[in-house]
Amino acid sequence: MSGSGARYDLFPTTLMTFELGETGMNADIERHFLEDPRYSRADQAEQSDSLNLMDLAGEVPAFARLQALFTEKLKAYCREVGWTGDFDLAMQMFPNVAPARHYVPSHNHVAHVAAVYYVNTPAFENRPLVDHGSSMTDYWRPEEGVLILHDPRFNASLMGGWQHYARVYPRPGLMIMFPAFLWHEVTPHFSNAPRLSVAANFTLDPKGEAFQKRLAFSV
Ligand SMILES: [Fe+2]
Repeated sequence: MSGSGARYDLFPTTLMTFELGETGMNADIERHFLEDPRYSRADQAEQSDSLNLMDLAGEVPAFARLQALFTEKLKAYCREVGWTGDFDLAMQMFPNVAPARHYVPSHNHVAHVAAVYYVNTPAFENRPLVDHGSSMTDYWRPEEGVLILHDPRFNASLMGGWQHYARVYPRPGLMIMFPAFLWHEVTPHFSNAPRLSVAANFTLDPKGEAFQKRLAFSV
C-alpha cells in the first residue's frame, strides 16, 4: 500500500492587477504633479505620505475619480480574498513623484490593503505585467524602475528553494492591490521624465465590534 500524498498550498498572497484606460485622468494628475511646486521639493519623498491627495479633490477633480476607482477595486479585491461585510474604511492616497535616480527602499505599509496606481512610468520592452516565475538567479539582475515583491513568509530567504519573489513592470493605467504586510521595493530609474504614481492605504474596521473602544492616548 502506498499513498501518493495530499498537497495543500496554504496561505496564498493575493495580488490583483487592474488595467484602466484613464488617459484623461492620467493627464490631469500628471499636470498637477509636474506644475505644483510641492512635488519638486528636495524632501518630497520623505514627506509624501504626510499628504492625503483626497484633500485636494476639490482642486484636482482627477483625484476624486481616482479615489472612486480605488474603492471600486478594493471591493473587488476584498471579494476575491473572501472579506465581506460592513466596514469603516480609513483611506489615504499619497503621491510618488520620482525623478531620475530615485528609488524606494524595502518597506511595507501600516494598513490592511495597499495599492498603487501608475500615472506615468518609463516603458518596458518584452516584459510581462507581473513576472512571478523567474529563478532566484534572476533576482539579482538589476532593472530600472521595477517593483519587486518579496516572499512574505518569515525568513523564507533562509530556506533555499522555498524562496520566491515577483517583479511588477508597471505601465500607465495599471492599478495593483496587495496585502499591506507584503515587503516591496522600487529599483532606481534613469529616465528624464519623473516616474509618477499614487499609492493608497486602506484600513478596514468591521462595524459593530463593540468590544473595541477608542481612547485618547498620549505618550
Ligand atoms: Fe509601498
